[in-house]
Amino acid sequence: MTVLETRPAQVGRTATRRRYLMCRPDHFEVRYAINPWMDPTAPVDRERALAQWQRLVHVYVGLGHTVELVDPLPGQPDMVFAANGGLVIGGRAYSARFTFPERSAEGPAYLDRLRTAGLEQVVEATCTNEGEGDFTVVGRRVLAGTGFRTSRAAHAEAATALDVEVVSLELVDPRYYHLDTCLAALDEDNVVYYPGAFRADSLEVLEQLYPHAVLASREDAEAFGLNCVSDGLHVVIDQAAGGLVRRLADAGYLPVPVDLSELVKAGGNVKCCTLELRS
Ligand code: ARG
Repeated sequence: MTVLETRPAQVGRTATRRRYLMCRPDHFEVRYAINPWMDPTAPVDRERALAQWQRLVHVYVGLGHTVELVDPLPGQPDMVFAANGGLVIGGRAYSARFTFPERSAEGPAYLDRLRTAGLEQVVEATCTNEGEGDFTVVGRRVLAGTGFRTSRAAHAEAATALDVEVVSLELVDPRYYHLDTCLAALDEDNVVYYPGAFRADSLEVLEQLYPHAVLASREDAEAFGLNCVSDGLHVVIDQAAGGLVRRLADAGYLPVPVDLSELVKAGGNVKCCTLELRS
């Protein structure tokens, strides 16, 4: 990976160049509710959603990352949440298989796109899983959420398909229905998470694996601060999570605040919009 920059105040924190797959919110709307954040009766401003999404793309490119696109499918309002489209590690992809019929057409669409991404191998999933929504890559390890969307069987299938260690974590709060709503990788060996979203035994696992983790408050979680994207130094995060922005800065990261308040109406934020293509 190419080292982009380090700064004296962020000793030991290093940014590396990333390749992201994203989907324009051309068909974004909230017309069904498959998570507690979605209210089909509340108005959504698609133009505003698009402007906020474009700003996010601009931020990534400004940080030196590459953004590639997948064509949005008409009638798939949640397709902007590209993180759910698969899991890519070491040039190998494991495809998504969505939980709800409302999003099932996205699976094949992302699969087709991954097949043209120049990867070495694309493995089609047989088990229900929502890609990086529930799979978080931390260095050589993959943390995997279950409880609401991704099945435990998919954890095992992904481990075999991608030849990686997968650690299962049980989610208990329906508002944090995907792992990426309550935990994010900060670098190769550190994470940030909201303890209240995990079952006690999973919390113990996290405490043991990451004793230096940054812990988020309930307010940070409610503001979707955990749905952030780090390149090892810069952490792109919703500005609404002010407490977490400060805590990340104290821990030596460089928060880059953005505003994704329209996409929050569907229960998604920065990370949800971003599928990393790891070589
Ligand atoms: N409305 C979408 C759903 O409930 C939001 C997905 C957010 N994506 C994510 N990676 N957490 O499926």
